[in-house]
Amino acid sequence: MPALVLLGAQWGDEGKGKATDLLGGSVDYVVRYQGGNNAGHTVVVGDQKYALHLLPSGILSPGCTPVIGNGVVVDPSVLLSELSGLNERGVDTSKLLLSGNAHIITPYNVTVDKVTERFLGKRKIGTTGRGIGPTYADKINRVGIRVQDLYDESILTQKVEAALDVKNQILTKLYNRRAIAVDQVVEELLAYADKLAPYVADTVLVLNQALEDDKVVLFEGGQGTLLDIDHGTYPFVTSSNPTAGGACTGAGVGPTKISRVIGILKAYTTRVGAGPFPTELFDEDGEALRRIGGERGVTTGRDRRCGWFDAVIARYATRVNGLTDFFLTKLDVLTGWEQIPVCVAYEIDGKRVEELPYSQTDFHHAKPVYEMLPGWSEDISKAKSFADLPKNAQAYVKALEEMSGAPISAIGVGPGRDETIEINSFL
Ligand code: GDP
Ligand code: IMO
Ligand code: MG
Repeated sequence: MPALVLLGAQWGDEGKGKATDLLGGSVDYVVRYQGGNNAGHTVVVGDQKYALHLLPSGILSPGCTPVIGNGVVVDPSVLLSELSGLNERGVDTSKLLLSGNAHIITPYNVTVDKVTERFLGKRKIGTTGRGIGPTYADKINRVGIRVQDLYDESILTQKVEAALDVKNQILTKLYNRRAIAVDQVVEELLAYADKLAPYVADTVLVLNQALEDDKVVLFEGGQGTLLDIDHGTYPFVTSSNPTAGGACTGAGVGPTKISRVIGILKAYTTRVGAGPFPTELFDEDGEALRRIGGERGVTTGRDRRCGWFDAVIARYATRVNGLTDFFLTKLDVLTGWEQIPVCVAYEIDGKRVEELPYSQTDFHHAKPVYEMLPGWSEDISKAKSFADLPKNAQAYVKALEEMSGAPISAIGVGPGRDETIEINSFL
Protein backbone atom coordinates (compact mmCIF):
# COMPACT_ATOMS: atom_id res chain seq x y z
CA MET A 1 0.00 0.00 0.00
CA PRO A 2 0.72 3.35 -0.76
CA ALA A 3 1.96 6.72 0.20
CA LEU A 4 -0.54 9.52 0.62
CA VAL A 5 0.18 13.24 0.64
CA LEU A 6 -1.94 15.62 2.67
CA LEU A 7 -1.29 19.30 2.00
CA GLY A 8 -2.74 22.79 2.23
CA ALA A 9 -4.68 23.91 -0.84
CA GLN A 10 -4.75 27.62 0.04
CA TRP A 11 -2.44 29.89 2.10
CA GLY A 12 -1.98 27.55 5.08
CA ASP A 13 -4.01 26.96 8.26
CA GLU A 14 -6.63 24.94 6.39
CA GLY A 15 -6.84 22.32 9.15
CA LYS A 16 -4.01 20.00 8.07
CA GLY A 17 -3.25 19.05 11.68
CA LYS A 18 -6.76 17.87 12.35
CA ALA A 19 -6.95 15.95 9.07
CA THR A 20 -3.57 14.29 9.66
CA ASP A 21 -4.52 13.34 13.20
CA LEU A 22 -7.75 11.81 11.93
CA LEU A 23 -5.83 9.53 9.56
CA GLY A 24 -2.98 9.00 12.03
CA GLY A 25 -4.74 6.08 13.68
CA SER A 26 -4.83 4.14 10.40
CA VAL A 27 -1.36 4.80 9.00
CA ASP A 28 2.07 3.52 9.98
CA TYR A 29 4.18 6.63 9.40
CA VAL A 30 3.43 10.36 9.30
CA VAL A 31 6.19 12.41 7.68
CA ARG A 32 6.83 16.16 7.61
CA TYR A 33 8.69 16.87 4.35
CA GLN A 34 9.26 20.64 4.29
CA GLY A 35 9.01 23.80 6.32
CA GLY A 36 9.83 23.98 10.00
CA ASN A 37 8.40 25.58 13.07
CA ASN A 38 6.78 28.29 10.98
CA ALA A 39 3.90 25.79 10.88
CA GLY A 40 1.26 25.69 13.58
CA HIS A 41 -0.98 22.63 13.41
CA THR A 42 -3.80 22.39 15.93
CA VAL A 43 -5.11 19.01 16.95
CA VAL A 44 -8.05 18.57 19.28
CA VAL A 45 -8.40 15.15 20.91
CA GLY A 46 -11.32 14.94 23.32
CA ASP A 47 -10.89 17.88 25.69
CA GLN A 48 -7.15 18.17 24.94
CA LYS A 49 -5.79 20.71 22.47
CA TYR A 50 -2.28 20.39 21.04
CA ALA A 51 -0.37 22.96 18.99
CA LEU A 52 2.35 21.23 16.96
CA HIS A 53 4.98 23.23 15.10
CA LEU A 54 7.68 20.85 14.02
CA LEU A 55 6.48 17.41 14.95
CA PRO A 56 4.19 15.55 12.54
CA SER A 57 0.61 15.38 13.83
CA GLY A 58 0.85 11.57 13.75
CA ILE A 59 2.81 11.79 17.00
CA LEU A 60 -0.51 11.78 18.86
CA SER A 61 -1.48 8.38 17.45
CA PRO A 62 0.26 5.63 19.47
CA GLY A 63 0.68 3.16 16.58
CA CYS A 64 2.17 5.67 14.22
CA THR A 65 5.87 6.48 13.70
CA PRO A 66 6.46 10.21 13.27
CA VAL A 67 9.24 11.21 10.88
CA ILE A 68 10.97 14.53 10.23
CA GLY A 69 12.27 14.22 6.68
CA ASN A 70 15.38 15.63 5.03
CA GLY A 71 13.43 18.54 3.51
CA VAL A 72 12.47 20.01 6.88
CA VAL A 73 14.49 22.74 8.62
CA VAL A 74 14.88 21.97 12.30
CA ASP A 75 15.38 24.33 15.20
CA PRO A 76 16.80 21.94 17.83
CA SER A 77 15.66 24.01 20.80
CA VAL A 78 12.10 24.07 19.47
CA LEU A 79 12.15 20.36 18.73
CA LEU A 80 13.38 19.48 22.22
CA SER A 81 10.91 21.75 23.97
CA GLU A 82 8.04 20.42 21.84
CA LEU A 83 9.06 16.86 22.75
CA SER A 84 9.30 17.59 26.46
CA GLY A 85 5.99 19.47 26.40
CA LEU A 86 4.29 16.40 24.92
CA ASN A 87 6.05 14.05 27.35
CA GLU A 88 4.74 16.11 30.26
CA ARG A 89 1.23 15.55 28.89
CA GLY A 90 1.80 11.80 28.71
CA VAL A 91 2.43 11.51 24.96
CA ASP A 92 5.05 8.90 24.03
CA THR A 93 7.48 10.49 21.56
CA SER A 94 10.15 7.80 21.61
CA LYS A 95 9.39 6.57 18.09
CA LEU A 96 10.31 9.86 16.43
CA LEU A 97 12.79 9.60 13.54
CA LEU A 98 14.83 12.62 12.47
CA SER A 99 16.67 12.71 9.15
CA GLY A 100 20.41 13.22 9.49
CA ASN A 101 20.20 15.26 6.28
CA ALA A 102 17.67 17.78 7.61
CA HIS A 103 19.12 21.27 7.89
CA ILE A 104 19.42 23.04 11.21
CA ILE A 105 17.98 26.47 11.92
CA THR A 106 20.90 28.10 13.71
CA PRO A 107 20.57 31.13 16.00
CA TYR A 108 22.15 33.31 13.30
CA ASN A 109 19.48 32.21 10.79
CA VAL A 110 16.81 33.47 13.19
CA THR A 111 18.69 36.76 13.62
CA VAL A 112 19.04 37.21 9.86
CA ASP A 113 15.30 36.53 9.34
CA LYS A 114 14.32 39.23 11.82
CA VAL A 115 16.90 41.76 10.71
CA THR A 116 16.04 41.30 7.03
CA GLU A 117 12.35 41.83 7.65
CA ARG A 118 13.09 45.00 9.57
CA PHE A 119 15.33 46.20 6.75
CA LEU A 120 12.61 45.53 4.17
CA GLY A 121 10.26 47.87 6.06
CA LYS A 122 7.06 48.36 4.05
CA ARG A 123 8.11 45.65 1.62
CA LYS A 124 8.44 42.98 4.31
CA ILE A 125 7.00 39.49 3.74
CA GLY A 126 5.56 39.20 7.24
CA THR A 127 7.53 36.02 7.97
CA THR A 128 7.06 34.09 11.17
CA GLY A 129 10.58 35.20 12.22
CA ARG A 130 11.65 31.62 12.84
CA GLY A 131 14.69 31.66 10.54
CA ILE A 132 13.06 29.57 7.82
CA GLY A 133 14.07 31.59 4.73
CA PRO A 134 17.71 32.16 5.76
CA THR A 135 18.15 28.45 6.63
CA TYR A 136 16.86 27.34 3.22
CA ALA A 137 19.03 30.05 1.64
CA ASP A 138 22.10 28.56 3.37
CA LYS A 139 21.06 25.10 2.17
CA ILE A 140 20.86 26.27 -1.44
CA ASN A 141 24.07 28.28 -1.05
CA ARG A 142 25.74 25.10 0.23
CA VAL A 143 26.72 26.63 3.56
CA GLY A 144 23.98 24.98 5.61
CA ILE A 145 24.45 22.95 8.79
CA ARG A 146 22.84 19.51 8.82
CA VAL A 147 21.76 17.37 11.75
CA GLN A 148 24.59 14.93 11.02
CA ASP A 149 27.17 17.74 11.40
CA LEU A 150 26.45 17.80 15.14
CA TYR A 151 28.37 14.54 15.40
CA ASP A 152 31.68 15.82 13.97
CA GLU A 153 32.97 18.83 15.85
CA SER A 154 35.69 19.69 13.39
CA ILE A 155 33.34 19.61 10.38
CA LEU A 156 30.75 21.56 12.34
CA THR A 157 33.28 24.27 13.21
CA GLN A 158 34.42 24.56 9.59
CA LYS A 159 30.85 24.82 8.38
CA VAL A 160 29.81 27.42 10.94
CA GLU A 161 32.93 29.42 10.03
CA ALA A 162 32.00 29.28 6.35
CA ALA A 163 28.41 30.29 7.05
CA LEU A 164 29.37 33.19 9.31
CA ASP A 165 32.13 34.50 7.09
CA VAL A 166 29.84 36.48 4.82
CA LYS A 167 26.98 36.85 7.30
CA ASN A 168 29.11 38.67 9.85
CA GLN A 169 30.21 41.14 7.18
CA ILE A 170 26.58 41.81 6.33
CA LEU A 171 25.44 41.98 9.95
CA THR A 172 28.16 44.41 11.01
CA LYS A 173 28.56 46.53 7.89
CA LEU A 174 25.03 46.66 6.49
CA TYR A 175 22.76 46.10 9.47
CA ASN A 176 24.96 47.66 12.13
CA ARG A 177 24.73 44.61 14.38
CA ARG A 178 27.37 42.82 16.40
CA ALA A 179 29.28 39.94 14.77
CA ILE A 180 28.32 36.42 15.88
CA ALA A 181 31.14 34.33 17.39
CA VAL A 182 31.82 30.95 15.75
CA ASP A 183 32.77 29.26 19.06
CA GLN A 184 29.60 30.30 20.76
CA VAL A 185 27.42 28.89 17.97
CA VAL A 186 29.40 25.65 17.82
CA GLU A 187 29.11 25.20 21.59
CA GLU A 188 25.37 25.81 21.52
CA LEU A 189 24.83 23.37 18.65
CA LEU A 190 27.03 20.66 20.18
CA ALA A 191 24.92 20.77 23.32
CA TYR A 192 22.00 19.39 21.28
CA ALA A 193 23.92 16.45 19.85
CA ASP A 194 23.35 13.89 22.62
CA LYS A 195 19.75 14.89 23.16
CA LEU A 196 18.88 14.44 19.48
CA ALA A 197 21.00 11.31 18.94
CA PRO A 198 18.27 8.75 19.83
CA TYR A 199 16.08 10.04 17.01
CA VAL A 200 18.58 10.46 14.17
CA ALA A 201 18.07 7.92 11.39
CA ASP A 202 18.42 7.22 7.69
CA THR A 203 14.79 8.15 7.12
CA VAL A 204 14.97 7.65 3.33
CA LEU A 205 15.90 4.01 3.83
CA VAL A 206 13.33 3.49 6.59
CA LEU A 207 10.47 4.97 4.55
CA ASN A 208 11.30 3.11 1.35
CA GLN A 209 11.61 -0.18 3.22
CA ALA A 210 8.30 0.52 4.92
CA LEU A 211 6.64 1.05 1.54
CA GLU A 212 8.15 -2.18 0.24
CA ASP A 213 6.63 -3.89 3.28
CA ASP A 214 3.20 -2.51 2.37
CA LYS A 215 3.09 -0.06 5.24
CA VAL A 216 1.02 3.09 4.86
CA VAL A 217 2.96 6.35 4.81
CA LEU A 218 1.25 9.73 5.11
CA PHE A 219 3.11 12.91 4.19
CA GLU A 220 1.90 15.95 6.10
CA GLY A 221 2.54 19.28 4.41
CA GLY A 222 3.18 22.50 6.24
CA GLN A 223 1.99 25.87 4.88
CA GLY A 224 -0.01 25.63 1.64
CA THR A 225 0.02 25.63 -2.17
CA LEU A 226 -0.13 29.42 -2.55
CA LEU A 227 2.82 29.79 -0.14
CA ASP A 228 4.98 27.48 -2.28
CA ILE A 229 8.30 29.03 -3.35
CA ASP A 230 7.72 27.95 -6.98
CA HIS A 231 3.93 27.86 -7.33
CA GLY A 232 2.77 30.41 -4.77
CA THR A 233 2.31 34.15 -4.79
CA TYR A 234 6.06 34.88 -4.94
CA PRO A 235 7.70 36.75 -3.22
CA PHE A 236 4.97 36.54 -0.56
CA VAL A 237 5.63 32.86 0.06
CA THR A 238 7.59 30.58 2.33
CA SER A 239 10.98 29.21 1.25
CA SER A 240 10.06 25.58 0.60
CA ASN A 241 7.79 23.41 -1.57
CA PRO A 242 4.61 22.49 0.32
CA THR A 243 3.12 21.24 -3.00
CA ALA A 244 2.95 17.51 -3.70
CA GLY A 245 6.32 17.26 -5.46
CA GLY A 246 7.96 18.51 -2.26
CA ALA A 247 6.98 15.26 -0.55
CA CYS A 248 9.23 13.32 -2.94
CA THR A 249 12.30 15.53 -2.59
CA GLY A 250 11.68 16.26 1.08
CA ALA A 251 11.50 12.60 2.08
CA GLY A 252 13.39 10.73 -0.65
CA VAL A 253 10.42 8.75 -1.92
CA GLY A 254 9.76 8.43 -5.65
CA PRO A 255 6.59 9.83 -7.25
CA THR A 256 5.55 6.34 -8.39
CA LYS A 257 4.93 5.47 -4.74
CA ILE A 258 2.31 8.17 -4.20
CA SER A 259 -1.22 7.04 -4.85
CA ARG A 260 -3.32 9.79 -3.33
CA VAL A 261 -2.91 13.53 -2.86
CA ILE A 262 -5.42 15.13 -0.52
CA GLY A 263 -5.86 18.91 -0.56
CA ILE A 264 -7.08 20.44 2.69
CA LEU A 265 -9.45 23.23 1.77
CA LYS A 266 -11.13 25.69 4.12
CA ALA A 267 -14.75 26.51 3.26
CA TYR A 268 -13.61 30.16 3.10
CA THR A 269 -10.10 31.66 2.78
CA THR A 270 -7.51 32.99 5.22
CA ARG A 271 -3.98 34.30 4.93
CA VAL A 272 -1.32 35.43 7.43
CA GLY A 273 1.42 37.88 6.48
CA ALA A 274 1.67 40.13 3.44
CA GLY A 275 0.72 39.48 -0.19
CA PRO A 276 -2.22 39.54 -2.59
CA PHE A 277 -5.56 38.01 -1.52
CA PRO A 278 -8.38 38.77 -3.98
CA THR A 279 -11.34 37.74 -1.79
CA GLU A 280 -10.09 39.44 1.39
CA LEU A 281 -12.84 41.16 3.38
CA PHE A 282 -12.39 44.39 5.30
CA ASP A 283 -15.96 44.55 6.59
CA GLU A 284 -18.15 42.94 9.23
CA ASP A 285 -18.26 39.65 7.32
CA GLY A 286 -14.47 39.40 7.52
CA GLU A 287 -14.59 40.20 11.22
CA ALA A 288 -17.31 37.56 11.73
CA LEU A 289 -15.30 34.86 9.89
CA ARG A 290 -12.29 35.70 12.05
CA ARG A 291 -14.34 35.58 15.25
CA ILE A 292 -16.43 32.48 14.53
CA GLY A 293 -13.55 30.63 12.87
CA GLY A 294 -11.08 31.54 15.65
CA GLU A 295 -8.73 32.81 12.95
CA ARG A 296 -5.65 33.71 14.96
CA GLY A 297 -2.20 32.31 14.14
CA VAL A 298 -1.07 29.30 16.18
CA THR A 299 2.60 30.23 15.74
CA THR A 300 2.70 34.00 15.90
CA GLY A 301 -0.67 34.91 17.44
CA ARG A 302 -1.35 37.29 14.53
CA ASP A 303 -4.94 37.79 13.37
CA ARG A 304 -5.50 35.97 10.09
CA ARG A 305 -6.82 37.93 7.13
CA CYS A 306 -10.20 36.45 6.13
CA GLY A 307 -12.23 36.28 2.92
CA TRP A 308 -14.74 34.24 0.94
CA PHE A 309 -13.98 30.95 -0.78
CA ASP A 310 -11.92 31.33 -3.95
CA ALA A 311 -12.56 28.59 -6.51
CA VAL A 312 -9.85 29.89 -8.85
CA ILE A 313 -7.26 29.08 -6.21
CA ALA A 314 -8.83 25.70 -5.47
CA ARG A 315 -8.69 24.76 -9.18
CA TYR A 316 -5.07 25.86 -9.29
CA ALA A 317 -4.26 23.70 -6.25
CA THR A 318 -5.91 20.72 -7.96
CA ARG A 319 -3.71 21.25 -11.00
CA VAL A 320 -0.28 21.86 -9.46
CA ASN A 321 -0.64 19.07 -6.91
CA GLY A 322 -2.53 16.53 -9.01
CA LEU A 323 -5.10 16.37 -6.21
CA THR A 324 -7.20 13.24 -6.03
CA ASP A 325 -9.41 14.46 -3.14
CA PHE A 326 -10.32 17.44 -1.07
CA PHE A 327 -10.96 17.53 2.66
CA LEU A 328 -13.23 20.55 3.15
CA THR A 329 -12.82 22.05 6.63
CA LYS A 330 -14.69 24.55 8.79
CA LEU A 331 -18.01 24.30 6.98
CA ASP A 332 -19.66 24.88 10.38
CA VAL A 333 -18.16 28.39 10.51
CA LEU A 334 -20.39 29.46 7.59
CA THR A 335 -23.62 28.59 9.43
CA GLY A 336 -25.88 31.62 9.79
CA TRP A 337 -25.18 33.58 6.60
CA GLU A 338 -28.27 34.11 4.47
CA GLN A 339 -26.22 34.06 1.30
CA ILE A 340 -22.61 33.08 0.85
CA PRO A 341 -20.53 34.64 -1.93
CA VAL A 342 -18.10 32.34 -3.71
CA CYS A 343 -15.44 33.66 -6.07
CA VAL A 344 -15.78 31.76 -9.36
CA ALA A 345 -13.45 33.84 -11.55
CA TYR A 346 -11.47 37.10 -11.52
CA GLU A 347 -11.89 40.31 -13.37
CA ILE A 348 -8.51 41.63 -14.41
CA ASP A 349 -8.32 44.97 -16.20
CA GLY A 350 -11.93 44.60 -17.36
CA LYS A 351 -11.60 40.99 -18.59
CA ARG A 352 -13.03 37.85 -17.00
CA VAL A 353 -10.28 35.34 -16.17
CA GLU A 354 -11.08 31.76 -15.13
CA GLU A 355 -7.61 30.58 -14.08
CA LEU A 356 -4.92 31.94 -11.79
CA PRO A 357 -2.80 34.34 -13.86
CA TYR A 358 0.93 33.56 -13.85
CA SER A 359 1.73 37.27 -13.85
CA GLN A 360 2.20 38.79 -10.41
CA THR A 361 1.02 42.17 -11.71
CA ASP A 362 -2.21 40.66 -13.04
CA PHE A 363 -2.86 38.80 -9.79
CA HIS A 364 -2.41 42.00 -7.80
CA HIS A 365 -5.14 43.56 -9.98
CA ALA A 366 -7.51 40.57 -9.77
CA LYS A 367 -10.99 41.40 -8.51
CA PRO A 368 -13.24 38.53 -7.47
CA VAL A 369 -16.32 37.69 -9.54
CA TYR A 370 -18.84 36.34 -7.04
CA GLU A 371 -21.70 33.93 -7.36
CA MET A 372 -24.16 33.95 -4.45
CA LEU A 373 -25.06 30.60 -2.90
CA PRO A 374 -27.95 30.24 -0.43
CA GLY A 375 -26.87 29.78 3.19
CA TRP A 376 -28.28 27.74 6.08
CA SER A 377 -29.00 28.44 9.74
CA GLU A 378 -29.20 24.94 11.26
CA ASP A 379 -26.37 23.80 13.57
CA ILE A 380 -24.33 21.30 11.54
CA SER A 381 -21.70 20.44 14.14
CA LYS A 382 -23.37 17.11 15.00
CA ALA A 383 -23.79 15.98 11.38
CA LYS A 384 -22.27 12.53 10.81
CA SER A 385 -23.17 11.98 7.18
CA PHE A 386 -23.64 14.11 4.10
CA ALA A 387 -27.39 13.45 4.29
CA ASP A 388 -27.46 15.02 7.78
CA LEU A 389 -26.50 18.39 6.33
CA PRO A 390 -29.21 20.91 5.46
CA LYS A 391 -30.03 21.03 1.72
CA ASN A 392 -28.25 24.39 1.22
CA ALA A 393 -25.09 23.17 2.97
CA GLN A 394 -25.13 20.10 0.70
CA ALA A 395 -25.54 22.36 -2.32
CA TYR A 396 -22.66 24.58 -1.13
CA VAL A 397 -20.36 21.56 -0.86
CA LYS A 398 -21.44 20.21 -4.25
CA ALA A 399 -20.92 23.62 -5.89
CA LEU A 400 -17.41 23.90 -4.42
CA GLU A 401 -16.60 20.38 -5.57
CA GLU A 402 -17.70 21.13 -9.11
CA MET A 403 -15.73 24.38 -9.27
CA SER A 404 -12.60 22.98 -7.65
CA GLY A 405 -11.99 19.96 -9.85
CA ALA A 406 -11.64 17.07 -7.36
CA PRO A 407 -14.09 15.13 -5.17
CA ILE A 408 -14.69 16.38 -1.63
CA SER A 409 -14.11 13.18 0.32
CA ALA A 410 -14.47 14.54 3.86
CA ILE A 411 -16.03 17.57 5.53
CA GLY A 412 -15.03 19.15 8.81
CA VAL A 413 -17.89 20.44 10.95
CA GLY A 414 -15.87 21.19 14.09
CA PRO A 415 -12.29 21.05 15.41
CA GLY A 416 -12.58 17.64 17.13
CA ARG A 417 -11.56 14.30 15.62
CA ASP A 418 -15.16 13.08 15.40
CA GLU A 419 -16.53 16.31 14.03
CA THR A 420 -15.95 15.02 10.55
CA ILE A 421 -18.19 13.69 7.80
CA GLU A 422 -16.39 10.99 5.86
CA ILE A 423 -17.70 10.55 2.32
CA ASN A 424 -15.02 8.50 0.55
CA SER A 425 -12.45 6.53 2.50
CA PHE A 426 -8.85 7.76 2.13
CA LEU A 427 -7.31 4.36 2.78
P1 GDP B 1 -3.16 23.82 9.96
O1 GDP B 1 -2.00 24.74 10.08
O2 GDP B 1 -3.55 23.59 8.54
O3 GDP B 1 -3.00 22.55 10.71
O4 GDP B 1 -4.40 24.59 10.60
P2 GDP B 1 -4.40 25.40 12.01
O5 GDP B 1 -4.37 24.44 13.12
O6 GDP B 1 -3.37 26.47 11.97
O7 GDP B 1 -5.79 26.14 11.92
C1 GDP B 1 -6.99 25.44 11.76
C2 GDP B 1 -7.89 25.74 12.97
O8 GDP B 1 -9.20 25.30 12.68
C3 GDP B 1 -7.49 24.99 14.23
O9 GDP B 1 -7.82 25.78 15.33
C4 GDP B 1 -8.36 23.72 14.20
O10 GDP B 1 -8.62 23.20 15.49
C5 GDP B 1 -9.61 24.28 13.59
N1 GDP B 1 -10.40 23.33 12.78
C6 GDP B 1 -9.95 22.36 11.94
N2 GDP B 1 -10.99 21.79 11.28
C7 GDP B 1 -12.11 22.44 11.71
C8 GDP B 1 -13.49 22.34 11.37
O11 GDP B 1 -13.91 21.56 10.52
N3 GDP B 1 -14.35 23.20 12.03
C9 GDP B 1 -13.93 24.12 12.96
N4 GDP B 1 -14.82 24.91 13.53
N5 GDP B 1 -12.62 24.22 13.29
C10 GDP B 1 -11.73 23.42 12.66
P1 IMO C 1 0.75 26.09 8.62
O1 IMO C 1 1.54 24.84 8.41
C1 IMO C 1 0.04 30.25 7.40
C2 IMO C 1 3.52 32.53 6.03
C3 IMO C 1 4.01 33.68 6.91
C4 IMO C 1 4.55 34.62 5.84
C5 IMO C 1 5.16 33.64 4.82
C6 IMO C 1 6.67 33.44 4.96
O2 IMO C 1 0.31 26.31 10.02
O3 IMO C 1 -0.35 26.21 7.62
P2 IMO C 1 8.16 32.11 6.72
O4 IMO C 1 8.33 32.30 8.21
O5 IMO C 1 7.68 30.77 6.32
O6 IMO C 1 9.37 32.54 5.94
O7 IMO C 1 7.00 33.18 6.32
O8 IMO C 1 4.50 32.40 5.02
N1 IMO C 1 3.41 31.22 6.72
C7 IMO C 1 2.25 30.65 7.06
N2 IMO C 1 0.98 31.09 6.96
N3 IMO C 1 0.28 29.00 7.88
C8 IMO C 1 1.54 28.54 7.98
O9 IMO C 1 1.83 27.28 8.34
C9 IMO C 1 2.61 29.39 7.59
N4 IMO C 1 3.96 29.25 7.57
C10 IMO C 1 4.43 30.37 7.02
O10 IMO C 1 2.94 34.27 7.62
O11 IMO C 1 3.49 35.29 5.19
MG1 MG D 1 -1.47 26.54 11.01
